[in-house]
Amino acid sequence: MSLSQADLTTDRPQYSAWIRSSNNITQQFLSIGGQPDIISLAGGLPADELYPVEAIKQASVRALDRWGAAALEYGPVEGLPALRAAIAERMSREHACRFDAENILLTTGAMQGLDLIGKVLIDPGDLIVAQFPTYLGALDAWRTRQPVYRKLTWNLDDPDLPAAMRAAKFVYCVPNYSNPTGALVNQNARGALLSRAIAAKTWLVEDDPYLPLQLDGSAGSSILAADAATRECGTYDGPVIYLGTLSKSVAPGLRVGWIVAEPKMIQLLALAKQCSDLSSSMFSQAVALEYLESGAEAELVSRTVACYRQRRDALCAAAQALLSEWFE
Ligand SMILES: Cc1ncc(COP(=O)(O)O)c(C=O)c1O
Repeated sequence: MSLSQADLTTDRPQYSAWIRSSNNITQQFLSIGGQPDIISLAGGLPADELYPVEAIKQASVRALDRWGAAALEYGPVEGLPALRAAIAERMSREHACRFDAENILLTTGAMQGLDLIGKVLIDPGDLIVAQFPTYLGALDAWRTRQPVYRKLTWNLDDPDLPAAMRAAKFVYCVPNYSNPTGALVNQNARGALLSRAIAAKTWLVEDDPYLPLQLDGSAGSSILAADAATRECGTYDGPVIYLGTLSKSVAPGLRVGWIVAEPKMIQLLALAKQCSDLSSSMFSQAVALEYLESGAEAELVSRTVACYRQRRDALCAAAQALLSEWFE
Protein backbone atom coordinates (compact mmCIF):
# COMPACT_ATOMS: atom_id res chain seq x y z
CA MET A 1 0.00 0.00 0.00
CA SER A 2 1.29 3.50 -0.76
CA LEU A 3 2.00 5.66 2.24
CA SER A 4 -0.91 7.97 3.02
CA GLN A 5 -0.74 11.74 3.29
CA ALA A 6 -1.10 11.30 7.08
CA ASP A 7 1.96 8.98 7.17
CA LEU A 8 3.97 11.64 5.38
CA THR A 9 2.81 14.72 7.25
CA THR A 10 5.28 16.02 9.82
CA ASP A 11 5.99 19.30 11.55
CA ARG A 12 9.63 18.25 11.69
CA PRO A 13 11.94 18.34 8.60
CA GLN A 14 10.41 16.73 5.49
CA TYR A 15 11.08 13.08 4.68
CA SER A 16 13.24 12.40 1.62
CA ALA A 17 11.73 12.44 -1.87
CA TRP A 18 12.16 8.68 -2.45
CA ILE A 19 10.39 7.68 0.76
CA ARG A 20 7.39 9.72 -0.34
CA SER A 21 7.06 7.51 -3.42
CA SER A 22 7.55 4.32 -1.42
CA ASN A 23 5.11 1.63 -0.27
CA ASN A 24 5.02 -1.13 2.33
CA ILE A 25 3.71 -3.98 0.15
CA THR A 26 6.71 -6.21 0.98
CA GLN A 27 6.18 -5.74 4.73
CA GLN A 28 2.50 -6.59 4.27
CA PHE A 29 3.03 -9.83 2.41
CA LEU A 30 5.79 -10.92 4.80
CA SER A 31 3.41 -10.40 7.71
CA ILE A 32 0.50 -12.15 5.94
CA GLY A 33 2.86 -15.05 5.15
CA GLY A 34 3.42 -15.48 8.89
CA GLN A 35 -0.28 -16.07 9.66
CA PRO A 36 -0.95 -19.74 10.40
CA ASP A 37 -4.30 -19.95 8.57
CA ILE A 38 -3.00 -18.45 5.31
CA ILE A 39 -0.91 -20.18 2.65
CA SER A 40 0.68 -17.15 1.05
CA LEU A 41 1.86 -17.48 -2.54
CA ALA A 42 2.64 -13.77 -2.72
CA GLY A 43 6.39 -14.03 -2.13
CA GLY A 44 9.11 -16.63 -2.45
CA LEU A 45 8.66 -17.73 1.16
CA PRO A 46 10.15 -21.18 1.85
CA ALA A 47 8.22 -23.77 3.89
CA ASP A 48 9.54 -23.08 7.39
CA GLU A 49 8.81 -26.62 8.64
CA LEU A 50 11.67 -27.76 6.37
CA TYR A 51 14.32 -25.52 7.92
CA PRO A 52 17.22 -27.65 9.25
CA VAL A 53 16.97 -26.46 12.87
CA GLU A 54 18.95 -29.30 14.46
CA ALA A 55 21.70 -29.23 11.82
CA ILE A 56 22.05 -25.45 12.16
CA LYS A 57 22.23 -25.82 15.96
CA GLN A 58 25.12 -28.27 15.56
CA ALA A 59 26.76 -26.07 12.90
CA SER A 60 26.58 -23.11 15.33
CA VAL A 61 28.44 -25.05 18.02
CA ARG A 62 31.08 -26.20 15.53
CA ALA A 63 31.42 -22.62 14.19
CA LEU A 64 32.09 -21.25 17.68
CA ASP A 65 34.55 -24.06 18.45
CA ARG A 66 36.39 -23.42 15.18
CA TRP A 67 36.40 -19.63 15.04
CA GLY A 68 35.98 -18.61 18.70
CA ALA A 69 35.70 -14.85 19.19
CA ALA A 70 36.39 -14.26 15.48
CA ALA A 71 32.86 -15.53 14.77
CA LEU A 72 31.51 -12.65 16.86
CA GLU A 73 33.86 -9.98 15.46
CA TYR A 74 33.44 -7.53 12.61
CA GLY A 75 34.68 -9.33 9.52
CA PRO A 76 36.27 -8.48 6.18
CA VAL A 77 33.87 -6.48 3.99
CA GLU A 78 34.18 -9.09 1.21
CA GLY A 79 33.11 -11.84 3.62
CA LEU A 80 34.62 -14.68 5.65
CA PRO A 81 37.53 -15.78 3.39
CA ALA A 82 36.88 -19.52 3.84
CA LEU A 83 33.20 -19.09 2.87
CA ARG A 84 34.16 -16.83 -0.04
CA ALA A 85 36.47 -19.58 -1.33
CA ALA A 86 33.76 -22.22 -0.77
CA ILE A 87 31.22 -20.16 -2.75
CA ALA A 88 33.76 -19.65 -5.57
CA GLU A 89 34.21 -23.41 -5.64
CA ARG A 90 30.43 -24.01 -5.54
CA MET A 91 29.84 -21.54 -8.39
CA SER A 92 32.62 -23.15 -10.46
CA ARG A 93 31.03 -26.57 -9.92
CA GLU A 94 27.38 -25.54 -10.49
CA HIS A 95 28.10 -23.38 -13.54
CA ALA A 96 30.90 -25.49 -15.01
CA CYS A 97 33.31 -22.56 -15.30
CA ARG A 98 36.11 -21.18 -13.21
CA PHE A 99 35.30 -18.50 -10.63
CA ASP A 100 37.88 -17.26 -8.11
CA ALA A 101 37.39 -15.76 -4.66
CA GLU A 102 38.02 -12.30 -6.15
CA ASN A 103 34.87 -12.83 -8.27
CA ILE A 104 32.79 -13.23 -5.10
CA LEU A 105 31.32 -10.76 -2.60
CA LEU A 106 29.37 -12.28 0.29
CA THR A 107 26.24 -10.31 1.10
CA THR A 108 23.46 -10.17 3.66
CA GLY A 109 21.07 -12.08 1.40
CA ALA A 110 20.66 -11.52 -2.33
CA MET A 111 18.53 -8.52 -1.36
CA GLN A 112 21.63 -6.68 -0.21
CA GLY A 113 23.25 -7.59 -3.53
CA LEU A 114 20.43 -5.78 -5.34
CA ASP A 115 20.84 -2.77 -3.06
CA LEU A 116 24.61 -2.62 -3.61
CA ILE A 117 24.21 -2.87 -7.40
CA GLY A 118 21.87 0.13 -7.19
CA LYS A 119 24.42 2.06 -5.12
CA VAL A 120 27.26 1.35 -7.54
CA LEU A 121 25.41 1.88 -10.83
CA ILE A 122 22.29 4.04 -10.51
CA ASP A 123 22.03 7.82 -10.37
CA PRO A 124 18.59 9.50 -10.32
CA GLY A 125 16.92 9.24 -13.72
CA ASP A 126 19.14 6.38 -14.95
CA LEU A 127 17.51 3.67 -17.05
CA ILE A 128 17.15 0.00 -16.05
CA VAL A 129 15.82 -2.52 -18.56
CA ALA A 130 13.99 -4.99 -16.29
CA GLN A 131 12.24 -8.28 -16.91
CA PHE A 132 8.50 -7.69 -16.72
CA PRO A 133 6.86 -8.28 -14.30
CA THR A 134 9.77 -7.46 -12.01
CA TYR A 135 10.63 -8.87 -8.58
CA LEU A 136 9.15 -6.47 -6.03
CA GLY A 137 12.27 -6.55 -3.83
CA ALA A 138 14.41 -5.30 -6.72
CA LEU A 139 12.06 -2.38 -7.27
CA ASP A 140 12.20 -1.71 -3.50
CA ALA A 141 16.01 -1.91 -3.44
CA TRP A 142 16.43 0.55 -6.29
CA ARG A 143 13.64 3.00 -5.40
CA THR A 144 16.07 5.02 -3.24
CA ARG A 145 18.19 5.63 -6.36
CA GLN A 146 15.18 6.93 -8.38
CA PRO A 147 15.79 5.11 -11.69
CA VAL A 148 13.39 4.84 -14.62
CA TYR A 149 12.44 1.47 -16.11
CA ARG A 150 11.87 -0.09 -19.46
CA LYS A 151 10.05 -3.41 -19.69
CA LEU A 152 11.89 -6.47 -20.93
CA THR A 153 9.78 -9.34 -22.27
CA TRP A 154 11.55 -12.49 -23.32
CA ASN A 155 10.50 -12.60 -26.97
CA LEU A 156 12.98 -9.69 -27.30
CA ASP A 157 11.11 -8.47 -30.39
CA ASP A 158 10.82 -4.85 -29.26
CA PRO A 159 12.58 -2.93 -32.08
CA ASP A 160 13.64 -0.23 -29.60
CA LEU A 161 15.25 -2.73 -27.25
CA PRO A 162 18.85 -2.48 -28.60
CA ALA A 163 18.82 1.32 -28.19
CA ALA A 164 17.26 1.01 -24.72
CA MET A 165 19.96 -1.48 -23.72
CA ARG A 166 22.69 0.85 -24.96
CA ALA A 167 21.20 3.63 -22.83
CA ALA A 168 20.61 1.43 -19.76
CA LYS A 169 22.91 1.10 -16.77
CA PHE A 170 21.97 -2.57 -16.63
CA VAL A 171 19.49 -5.25 -17.60
CA TYR A 172 17.82 -7.14 -14.74
CA CYS A 173 16.36 -10.63 -15.07
CA VAL A 174 15.39 -13.76 -13.10
CA PRO A 175 15.60 -16.52 -15.75
CA ASN A 176 15.03 -19.44 -13.35
CA TYR A 177 11.48 -19.73 -11.93
CA SER A 178 11.05 -15.99 -11.94
CA ASN A 179 9.47 -14.15 -9.05
CA PRO A 180 6.55 -13.35 -9.41
CA THR A 181 5.58 -15.51 -12.45
CA GLY A 182 7.52 -18.74 -11.80
CA ALA A 183 8.50 -18.76 -15.49
CA LEU A 184 11.59 -20.65 -16.66
CA VAL A 185 13.27 -18.87 -19.56
CA ASN A 186 14.52 -21.05 -22.42
CA GLN A 187 18.19 -21.27 -23.40
CA ASN A 188 17.73 -19.47 -26.73
CA ALA A 189 16.21 -16.42 -25.08
CA ARG A 190 18.97 -16.38 -22.44
CA GLY A 191 21.64 -16.54 -25.14
CA ALA A 192 19.95 -13.82 -27.19
CA LEU A 193 19.71 -11.51 -24.18
CA LEU A 194 23.39 -12.07 -23.37
CA SER A 195 24.43 -11.29 -26.97
CA ARG A 196 22.40 -8.10 -26.90
CA ALA A 197 23.83 -7.03 -23.55
CA ILE A 198 27.37 -7.63 -24.85
CA ALA A 199 26.61 -5.70 -28.06
CA ALA A 200 25.12 -2.84 -26.00
CA LYS A 201 28.15 -2.87 -23.63
CA THR A 202 25.86 -2.88 -20.62
CA TRP A 203 25.79 -4.93 -17.41
CA LEU A 204 23.45 -7.88 -17.11
CA VAL A 205 22.17 -8.67 -13.61
CA GLU A 206 21.08 -12.31 -13.30
CA ASP A 207 19.19 -12.89 -10.04
CA ASP A 208 19.10 -16.65 -9.39
CA PRO A 209 17.77 -17.53 -5.92
CA TYR A 210 15.63 -20.45 -7.10
CA LEU A 211 18.33 -22.42 -8.97
CA PRO A 212 18.37 -25.27 -6.41
CA LEU A 213 14.58 -25.78 -6.61
CA GLN A 214 14.33 -27.65 -9.92
CA LEU A 215 10.93 -29.35 -9.65
CA ASP A 216 10.71 -30.67 -13.23
CA GLY A 217 14.12 -31.55 -14.60
CA SER A 218 17.06 -29.29 -15.24
CA ALA A 219 16.84 -25.51 -15.30
CA GLY A 220 19.48 -25.42 -18.05
CA SER A 221 22.58 -23.28 -17.82
CA SER A 222 22.78 -19.80 -16.38
CA ILE A 223 23.53 -16.70 -18.43
CA LEU A 224 26.68 -16.36 -16.31
CA ALA A 225 27.83 -19.84 -17.35
CA ALA A 226 27.06 -19.13 -21.03
CA ASP A 227 29.15 -15.97 -20.88
CA ALA A 228 32.01 -17.46 -18.85
CA ALA A 229 32.25 -20.40 -21.29
CA THR A 230 33.08 -18.02 -24.15
CA ARG A 231 35.88 -16.23 -22.28
CA GLU A 232 39.56 -17.01 -21.81
CA CYS A 233 40.25 -19.33 -18.91
CA GLY A 234 41.15 -17.30 -15.85
CA THR A 235 39.35 -14.98 -13.49
CA TYR A 236 35.85 -14.16 -14.82
CA ASP A 237 35.81 -10.69 -16.41
CA GLY A 238 32.45 -10.54 -18.24
CA PRO A 239 29.42 -8.22 -17.91
CA VAL A 240 27.17 -10.58 -15.93
CA ILE A 241 26.53 -9.72 -12.28
CA TYR A 242 25.07 -12.85 -10.75
CA LEU A 243 23.20 -13.09 -7.42
CA GLY A 244 23.01 -16.29 -5.38
CA THR A 245 21.66 -17.06 -1.91
CA LEU A 246 21.19 -19.81 0.67
CA SER A 247 17.70 -18.46 1.44
CA LYS A 248 15.76 -20.94 -0.69
CA SER A 249 17.98 -24.04 -0.36
CA VAL A 250 18.81 -23.77 3.38
CA ALA A 251 17.06 -20.96 5.30
CA PRO A 252 16.47 -17.24 4.71
CA GLY A 253 17.18 -16.40 8.36
CA LEU A 254 20.88 -17.08 7.76
CA ARG A 255 20.87 -14.02 5.46
CA VAL A 256 23.78 -15.44 3.47
CA GLY A 257 23.91 -14.47 -0.18
CA TRP A 258 26.60 -13.63 -2.72
CA ILE A 259 27.41 -11.70 -5.85
CA VAL A 260 29.57 -13.06 -8.66
CA ALA A 261 31.09 -10.44 -10.97
CA GLU A 262 34.34 -9.34 -12.52
CA PRO A 263 36.91 -8.31 -9.85
CA LYS A 264 36.72 -4.52 -10.35
CA MET A 265 32.94 -4.58 -9.97
CA ILE A 266 33.36 -6.74 -6.83
CA GLN A 267 35.72 -4.11 -5.37
CA LEU A 268 33.22 -1.32 -6.04
CA LEU A 269 30.36 -3.35 -4.61
CA ALA A 270 32.53 -4.00 -1.52
CA LEU A 271 33.04 -0.24 -1.20
CA ALA A 272 29.26 0.23 -1.28
CA LYS A 273 28.87 -2.58 1.26
CA GLN A 274 31.38 -0.96 3.60
CA CYS A 275 29.12 2.13 3.62
CA SER A 276 26.08 -0.06 4.16
CA ASP A 277 26.78 -2.54 6.97
CA LEU A 278 30.59 -2.78 7.37
CA SER A 279 30.34 -6.54 6.91
CA SER A 280 27.75 -9.29 6.92
CA SER A 281 27.34 -11.25 10.16
CA MET A 282 30.50 -13.28 10.75
CA PHE A 283 28.50 -15.66 12.92
CA SER A 284 25.99 -16.42 10.15
CA GLN A 285 28.77 -16.87 7.62
CA ALA A 286 30.70 -19.21 9.95
CA VAL A 287 27.52 -21.26 10.60
CA ALA A 288 26.74 -21.39 6.87
CA LEU A 289 30.27 -22.59 6.16
CA GLU A 290 29.98 -25.40 8.72
CA TYR A 291 26.57 -26.38 7.35
CA LEU A 292 27.81 -26.45 3.73
CA GLU A 293 30.98 -28.36 4.66
CA SER A 294 28.88 -31.00 6.44
CA GLY A 295 27.35 -31.87 3.05
CA ALA A 296 23.81 -31.74 4.48
CA GLU A 297 22.46 -29.30 1.89
CA ALA A 298 22.01 -31.87 -0.92
CA GLU A 299 19.70 -34.05 1.17
CA LEU A 300 17.75 -31.01 2.37
CA VAL A 301 17.30 -29.74 -1.20
CA SER A 302 16.03 -33.10 -2.44
CA ARG A 303 13.56 -33.27 0.50
CA THR A 304 12.48 -29.67 -0.19
CA VAL A 305 12.01 -30.28 -3.91
CA ALA A 306 9.95 -33.45 -3.26
CA CYS A 307 7.74 -31.55 -0.80
CA TYR A 308 7.25 -28.53 -3.11
CA ARG A 309 6.48 -30.78 -6.07
CA GLN A 310 3.76 -32.54 -4.09
CA ARG A 311 2.29 -29.23 -2.91
CA ARG A 312 2.48 -27.71 -6.40
CA ASP A 313 0.63 -30.71 -7.84
CA ALA A 314 -2.04 -30.54 -5.12
CA LEU A 315 -2.52 -26.81 -5.71
CA CYS A 316 -2.76 -27.23 -9.50
CA ALA A 317 -5.27 -30.08 -9.14
CA ALA A 318 -7.40 -28.05 -6.72
CA ALA A 319 -7.22 -24.96 -8.95
CA GLN A 320 -8.23 -27.08 -11.94
CA ALA A 321 -11.15 -28.63 -10.05
CA LEU A 322 -12.42 -25.52 -8.28
CA LEU A 323 -11.29 -22.48 -10.24
CA SER A 324 -11.13 -23.51 -13.89
CA GLU A 325 -14.22 -21.52 -14.82
CA TRP A 326 -12.39 -18.38 -13.62
CA PHE A 327 -9.21 -18.92 -15.64
CA GLU A 328 -8.34 -20.08 -19.13
C1 LIG B 1 14.04 -12.96 -7.30
C2 LIG B 1 14.52 -12.78 -5.89
N1 LIG B 1 15.67 -12.12 -5.68
C3 LIG B 1 16.15 -11.96 -4.44
C4 LIG B 1 15.45 -12.41 -3.34
C5 LIG B 1 16.00 -12.12 -1.98
O1 LIG B 1 16.63 -13.23 -1.44
P1 LIG B 1 17.42 -13.17 -0.07
O2 LIG B 1 16.56 -13.84 0.95
O3 LIG B 1 18.69 -13.92 -0.33
O4 LIG B 1 17.69 -11.74 0.27
C6 LIG B 1 14.24 -13.09 -3.50
C7 LIG B 1 13.47 -13.56 -2.35
O5 LIG B 1 12.33 -13.95 -2.42
C8 LIG B 1 13.76 -13.28 -4.83
O6 LIG B 1 12.60 -13.92 -5.07
